[in-house]
Amino acid sequence: MANNEVGGEKGSVENTTLARKIGRYFAAVSLAALAFVVVFSYWNARQTVLAEAQSKLRLTNGIVKAMRTTVQKELRPVFLKKGIFHPSHVVSSATMIAAVGRHLQSDPEFSRYLIRYVSDNPTNQSNYPSEGEMLVLKHLRKTGKSEITKVVKFPEGPYLVHAKPLVAKSGCLSCHGDPAAAPKEIVAFYGRESGYHYRIGEIVGAAIVGIPFSEITPLLIKQAVLLSLIMVAVLGLAFYLINRFVQQEVALPIVRLTEVAKALSKGAVDRPLRTSRSDEIGALVRAIELLRRSIQVAIRRMKG
Ligand code: HEC
Repeated sequence: MANNEVGGEKGSVENTTLARKIGRYFAAVSLAALAFVVVFSYWNARQTVLAEAQSKLRLTNGIVKAMRTTVQKELRPVFLKKGIFHPSHVVSSATMIAAVGRHLQSDPEFSRYLIRYVSDNPTNQSNYPSEGEMLVLKHLRKTGKSEITKVVKFPEGPYLVHAKPLVAKSGCLSCHGDPAAAPKEIVAFYGRESGYHYRIGEIVGAAIVGIPFSEITPLLIKQAVLLSLIMVAVLGLAFYLINRFVQQEVALPIVRLTEVAKALSKGAVDRPLRTSRSDEIGALVRAIELLRRSIQVAIRRMKG
C-alpha cells in the first residue's frame, strides 16, 4: 500500500457494483424522463409551428381583406357609376377574392392552399361551403369570435385554417338584399334564388384561408426531433457526470477501505490512514484509523 491517502482515488467508472447499480437506476429514470421529453418536445414544437403558421395565415387574410377594400372603395363606385357590372370582379370584392383563390390554386407551388369566401346562401353556387368550410362557418356563428384558427378535416386531409366572419352591412343590401332591387345584371347572371335577403348584422359567410397540415408536419417533426436530441444529449452528459462522481467519490474509496480492512485483519496494522475529506466517507476513514490504532496497541500489548 504505497499511498495511504483515502478519498481521492481515480479509476474507471464501469467496474464497481455500486456504480453499476446507480447507473441502472439513473438509466431507468432517464428512460421515463425521455418519454416525457419526447411528448413535451412534440407539444412544444406544435405550439411554435402553429403559432408561426397562424401569424402567416392572419397576414394572408389581412391581405385578402385589403384586396376586398380596394374593390369596394376604389373600383366599385367608379364602375357602378358607369353601369358596368361585368366582369363582376370590379364591383364584387367576393368575385375578386374567388378569382384570386382560383389563380393561387392554379400555381403548382400553392395548389393546395385555400383562399375562400363562402356563404351558405351563396350568390354563386361555387361559393357554397364544403363540409369542412361549413364547420368553420358554424363555429364562427356559434362563438361570435372575430377570428379563429383551427385544424379542420377536409376530404383532402386536415388543414390549418384562419377564418373571419363576413357580416352583412347596409351597403351589402344593394346587391344582396331584395333581388327585385338588386342590379339587373347581377340577377340576370346569378339568378334570383340565392344570395339575397341578407339581414344587417347577420354572419352571412366566412373568409377562410388555409394550408394543408401536411405542409406543417415536416417542420413540426424537425423541431420535435431537434429538441428531443438536445434533451437526450443533456441527459446523457448528466448520466456520465453523475456516474463518474459516484464512482470516484463513493465507490472507489469504499473499495479502497475494504482492502485496508482486509489487510488489517491479516495484521498489517502499521500504516496510518489519512484523509482530507470532511464528509461521511472521511468520517469512515477516521473511524477505521482509530480501529487500526486500537488493534496496533492491542497487538503490542500481546507481544510485550
Ligand atoms: C355590387 C354588388 C355587391 C355588393 C354591394 C356586395 N356583394 Fe357580395 N357578392 C356580389 C356578387 C356578384 C357575388 C358573387 C361572386 C362570385 O361570383 O363569386 C358576391 C358574393 C359574395 C359572397 C360569397 C358567397 C356568394 O354569395 O357567392 C359573400 C360572402 C358576399 N358576397 C358577402 C358580401 C358582403 C358581406 C357584402 C357587404 C359588405 C357584399 N357582399 C356586398 C355582389 C355584391
